[in-house]
Amino acid sequence: MTGGIKVPNSKSFDVVVRERRSVRRFLSRPVPDGLLRTVVEQAQLAPSNCNTQPWQVHIASGAVRDRLSQALLAADEAGENSRDFSFSTADYPAVPHQRAKDQGAEYYKAIGVAREATEDRLIATKRNLDFFGAPHVAFLFMPSVGDNVRVAGDIGMYGQTFLLSLVANGLGGIPQTMLGFYADTIRSVLGVDESLKLLFGISFGFVDESAAESRYRIGKEPIENSVTFHG
Ligand SMILES: Cc1cc2nc3c(=O)[nH]c(=O)nc-3n(C[C@H](O)[C@H](O)[C@H](O)COP(=O)(O)O)c2cc1C
Repeated sequence: MTGGIKVPNSKSFDVVVRERRSVRRFLSRPVPDGLLRTVVEQAQLAPSNCNTQPWQVHIASGAVRDRLSQALLAADEAGENSRDFSFSTADYPAVPHQRAKDQGAEYYKAIGVAREATEDRLIATKRNLDFFGAPHVAFLFMPSVGDNVRVAGDIGMYGQTFLLSLVANGLGGIPQTMLGFYADTIRSVLGVDESLKLLFGISFGFVDESAAESRYRIGKEPIENSVTFHG
């Protein structure tokens, strides 16, 4: 509170950016409408190529969210796969490919799932399709434009602004490419036109801080491995 006026989010940028991490265990308590509105209003301020703001965001909550999760699990069970964009970590150069492998290994270790426990790993992966228990999920759709790279970059800008806003407002979230593997199912349940392509979803809500999934933190490379200063 400042002079009796409620400041919607008063955490410093440094705190917000350090607190943010991908959350994989949420409380079922829904986010109040006013807070949800603050998050989407802040995310809307994201930059985009020539201010094109190409994102079309669909947010599912309550009964729609539940119906969607059931449809995703059924599609997965039926072996249906309808991704708008390809994704395989095997396509990455050796170093980021290795980081992806390390991330999986570290996560499973943190939640107590052994390397050889194939069934348990499958269950942990399928939790993506129940939005990790989150009461809300936002789907980031985009129009298809040329080779899509610039538009996808804009969607990424929106996604990170959304994620940081969640943290600033006492919430948490996780971006999920895996939801994009079921684009037809999601378009069908939400009534989204097929001209809109699904890049990824963001499950979000209040974080279950007591869970092993929430205590897990992944490390980042030293800046020397990513940044070159010239001049
Ligand atoms: C665009 C994008 C898509 C992602 N998709 C998934 C996903 O489908 N499932 C998942 O568990 N994590 C997913 N993640 C989370 C990453 O694994 C996570 O960001 C990474 O391990 C770094 O951890 P941090 O977000 O806690 O810093 C995704 C992250 C991004 C940026």
